[in-house]
Amino acid sequence: MLAIYEILYLISAICFIIGLRKLSDPRTARVGNLTAAFGMGLAILVSFVVPLEGDHNNYIWIIGSLLIGGVIGYMAALKVQMTGMPQLVSIFNGLGGGSAMLLAGTEFLKYVNSGNNNTIILFVIVFTAFVGAISFSGSILAYLKLDGKVKDKNVILPYHQVINVILLIVTIYFGYKTMETQSATDFMVFTILSLVYGISFVAPIGGADMPVVISLLNSITGISAAFAGFIYHSQIMILGGILVGASGTLLTLMMCNAMNRSIWNVIIGGFGSSSPKGSAGEKEDGVHQEATAQDVAIMANYAQKVLVVPGYGMAVSQAQKQAKELDELLAKNDVEVVYGIHPVAGRMPGHMNVILAEVDISYDKLLDLEDSNSMMDEVDLVLVVGANDVVNPAAVEDKSSNIYGMPVLEVWKAKQVIVFKRSMNPGYAGISNPLFFRPNTKMLFGDAGSSLKKIAEEVKNLN
Ligand code: TAP
Repeated sequence: MLAIYEILYLISAICFIIGLRKLSDPRTARVGNLTAAFGMGLAILVSFVVPLEGDHNNYIWIIGSLLIGGVIGYMAALKVQMTGMPQLVSIFNGLGGGSAMLLAGTEFLKYVNSGNNNTIILFVIVFTAFVGAISFSGSILAYLKLDGKVKDKNVILPYHQVINVILLIVTIYFGYKTMETQSATDFMVFTILSLVYGISFVAPIGGADMPVVISLLNSITGISAAFAGFIYHSQIMILGGILVGASGTLLTLMMCNAMNRSIWNVIIGGFGSSSPKGSAGEKEDGVHQEATAQDVAIMANYAQKVLVVPGYGMAVSQAQKQAKELDELLAKNDVEVVYGIHPVAGRMPGHMNVILAEVDISYDKLLDLEDSNSMMDEVDLVLVVGANDVVNPAAVEDKSSNIYGMPVLEVWKAKQVIVFKRSMNPGYAGISNPLFFRPNTKMLFGDAGSSLKKIAEEVKNLN
């Protein structure tokens, strides 16, 4: 018969699975998040009552750490801007890996002192240290890159991938040596090498690919947690770790698919680094046309169908409020307003869904990439609000472009396109965008939120 604590762990596990399922739809994501958090809270509580193997007198340490960690995490989550969310996820993820690494360290010492001869347990400890250390140091560098505190060009060495292979072989050798000698010094060297490998693994990966890398590191952290679960014979840790590992892997692959790239291409490519040719503020060639807020108000007011394409710039300028206001004004004039959501618009999965949900834009108005493209020729006006790479025709038309093959929103097929941005600078991939020079495209320069506000004022004047 199952003990009560096993039933409670089972309930936690079910909550994790339901939570993950609900997270896959914006309508249910909030409930999903709460359900998974409840499951985690329950699992932690049960672990208190039924401690894992080992000491039973560490409550002060555990409660103290929980309180400090909980307060820091809560404050960080309260303060973080939506645009800084990937950085926060990266830090949280890195700390998970770091704690798995530290657990492995203590368990290694315990193992050595206990005279235990179980090689499988020793392997699990060494592997947990390896994976946890990579996840920790790799996530910290990913955070620094995403936050612009470290530039790609400063951390990429000549022949970096060759160095990485050599470093990996040396690290694995020290892992093997640690298992042979069971020496604390070898374990330390092995862990330090794993930390260095984590940094070196992330270093050559381009800035625009950091969200993919964070998701990959997240799945690695899940695996390290699952291995830590083996050390403690904790089914809930194993299950939680496997769920994180599997969902992180799926998310990583889905992001790669959305960019039409393989995971190897992401890891080796250096695509979207902060200094590729065509970036660093280089301006694009060609002649562009400009529109005023009044021009756009007239076009929108007399259109039948308007497609808004949000991108990273909408999140930066927090223009979703103004977009919603304009949407409501146009709806009064029987203009249909829908939103074209690219799966990698912004800087994290679901970024655009989240910011539009903040202002209660109905989910029925959100169209995915395929649906948006299939009705593009019926669209009278596209408002590209702070998006750039995800509407770049080079992805479809220019075989020499490094985003060639990435599915994009084909907005140039609509009757008229307005691009909201502040300059002619390229987007995050650092490549020029021929859309800006198309005959049916006009640029509206300025902060996206202010421009939408001005358009809304003009629409009010028209009616
Ligand atoms: P981007 O290509 O990065 O373009 C954003 C545009 O917003 C820029 O051209 C910028 O131009 C403009 N902008 C910034 N602040 C603005 C403001 N306050 N007002 C108006 N415009 C503003 O964005 P995107 O089209 O959303 O593409 C996302 C990129 O991230 C892609 O390269 C994608 O592959 C990459 N990526 C995303 C993910 C996920 S999961 N989302 C994962 C991996 C990679 P100005 O500076 O001239 O204003």
